[in-house]
Amino acid sequence: MKTLLVTGGAGFIGSNLVRLIAREGRYRIIVLDALTYAGNLENIQDVVNGDTVTFVHGSITDAALVASILANADIDAILHLAAESHVDRSIQSAAPFIETNVVGTLVLLEAAKAAGVRRFVHVSTDEVYGTLGPDDPAFTEETPLQPNSPYSASKASSDLLVRSFVHTHGMDAVITRCSNNYGPYQFPEKFIPLMTLNAIDGRGLPVYGDGLQVRDWLHVEDHCRGIMMAYEQGKAGEVYNFGGYGEEKNIVVAKAILKHLGKDESLLTYVADRPGHDRRYAINPRKVAHELGWEPEWNFEDGLRATVEWYQSHTAWCENVRSGEYRTYYQRQYEQRG
Ligand code: NAD
Ligand code: TYD
Repeated sequence: MKTLLVTGGAGFIGSNLVRLIAREGRYRIIVLDALTYAGNLENIQDVVNGDTVTFVHGSITDAALVASILANADIDAILHLAAESHVDRSIQSAAPFIETNVVGTLVLLEAAKAAGVRRFVHVSTDEVYGTLGPDDPAFTEETPLQPNSPYSASKASSDLLVRSFVHTHGMDAVITRCSNNYGPYQFPEKFIPLMTLNAIDGRGLPVYGDGLQVRDWLHVEDHCRGIMMAYEQGKAGEVYNFGGYGEEKNIVVAKAILKHLGKDESLLTYVADRPGHDRRYAINPRKVAHELGWEPEWNFEDGLRATVEWYQSHTAWCENVRSGEYRTYYQRQYEQRG
């Protein structure tokens, strides 16, 4: 059985990907995750078994650690998801984004090249393309990179590093760029889980600016299937965009969440806009439909309802995240098990 190194596998998308791969049982997995505030071992605790799924606590910026993982296991591919991922945090402080997203990606690329890893799958974002006007066509793989936030600038930088390793060193790498993900295990600093948990608690839902910004919502399970298709069927050096055909205005999403939970719209609280706020993202996923046979299975209406219900029913997970308990309890448990 081939082995995959999944970076960031204790985060939102990474943990959904690890669960998908573990469920299918076709690959061994090594998860490398630094367990920052966004990493939560509880997300994967029931699939980490020390055999087919193992966990390594450490940073992708640690070149010696990464080299030793690659030296001790015959890794077929690195599925690279580890990142600082929240735009608002990048506005407060950009340095951690450069360190993990740019320097960390370079460390992985150098190590993969030295160890002869067969394929490098770099998970990126549609935010590298910048922002769209209301009538602009959706992003394609040919759209120029025009990142607007320190987060998207750091992701675009890492994409360009990957591209350079393909062209200069002949590395077999593919880049995936997806629209906004939603679904289970998303840390509640992002829009949908934040609005959902605030609504459950009867707290205000902070809507930035006029709330008319548009995001193209993609269910995380559809995205994870796409990452595996890009790994298994993608062509070296190609970029693949994944989108959910799920364009919606923020205010409409916030109201839908309130409706699902039977809460009043008076909880909507308009707050100051995010500086440099991108107005609209949308992806044209025609290339992955034609070349990989990928289509999203979730529509946004059903996916949003299922996601709100997931947060409602996973009270222990929500409570551990709210209280900060997840940061110590699960790490302690893991370290005790050794
Ligand atoms: P997340 O913030 O939920 O998880 C990131 C994970 O990476 C965490 O487990 C964290 O502990 C880990 N990590 C951070 N720094 C690390 C380091 N130096 N070394 C090792 N691990 C480290 O992020 P996510 O939403 O799951 O996003 C995963 C990837 O997908 C990111 O590369 C992100 O840019 C990309 N992406 C996300 C979205 C989205 O909507 N969430 C959309 C497009 C692209
Ligand atoms: P977010 O989940 O941070 O994703 P991104 O900025 O990467 O698209 O935000 C999604 C949208 O929701 C974005 O337009 C910003 C907006 N937003 C709010 O209105 N209020 C909030 O509290 C947050 C976190 C986001």
